[in-house]
Amino acid sequence: MRFSRIDLNPGSGEPAANSPQELLLGCHARIRHYIQLGRTLASARGVSEAEVADAAAAIFRYFSLALPMHEGDENETLYPRICASQPEGSLVLEAAETMVEQHRAINELTAELLALCATLDRTPNRLAQLAPNLDHVTRAMEQVFGAHLHLEETVIFPALADLFPPEVITEMLNEMNDRRRPPRSGLHLVQ
Ligand SMILES: [Fe+2]
Ligand SMILES: [Fe+2]
Repeated sequence: MRFSRIDLNPGSGEPAANSPQELLLGCHARIRHYIQLGRTLASARGVSEAEVADAAAAIFRYFSLALPMHEGDENETLYPRICASQPEGSLVLEAAETMVEQHRAINELTAELLALCATLDRTPNRLAQLAPNLDHVTRAMEQVFGAHLHLEETVIFPALADLFPPEVITEMLNEMNDRRRPPRSGLHLVQ
């Protein structure tokens, strides 16, 4: 596959989400996309160094900037509200606890992927040498994320609308959108 046919920035032109579930599912589509891009990069042959560097930089950007916001949505916006509303032993609470636990393993794999992609962005001529490591880590991410995203999509996200009143759903969506707002310019401080 040629990288020139891969969208390096999927979802960038999409309209704003109308619900937390919609926003979170959009993130999941991008997580799957960038893991797939990593798998493609690991098996790429005969592509230019510029294409390798572009793909590595796009993967690095997504997993270093966007994934932490998605985890923030789940760890800081969803999880505390589920804990506060659900009795001990409830299915959704147990799934939410598993979700937070799985984020730790995901972050370890992500750190490995980021290190590889940073190296390939700087020195794309090392792709053949690093491809086995990239193959290993993206294969592991595909497996770990496969189970993780499935748990969230089948147990946690569908329950939100039943667990919380509309005003709490709106509050969660606002919190998630705020998380993505660029920090306000510091220029006003320099007067
Ligand atoms: Fe998650
Ligand atoms: Fe998620």
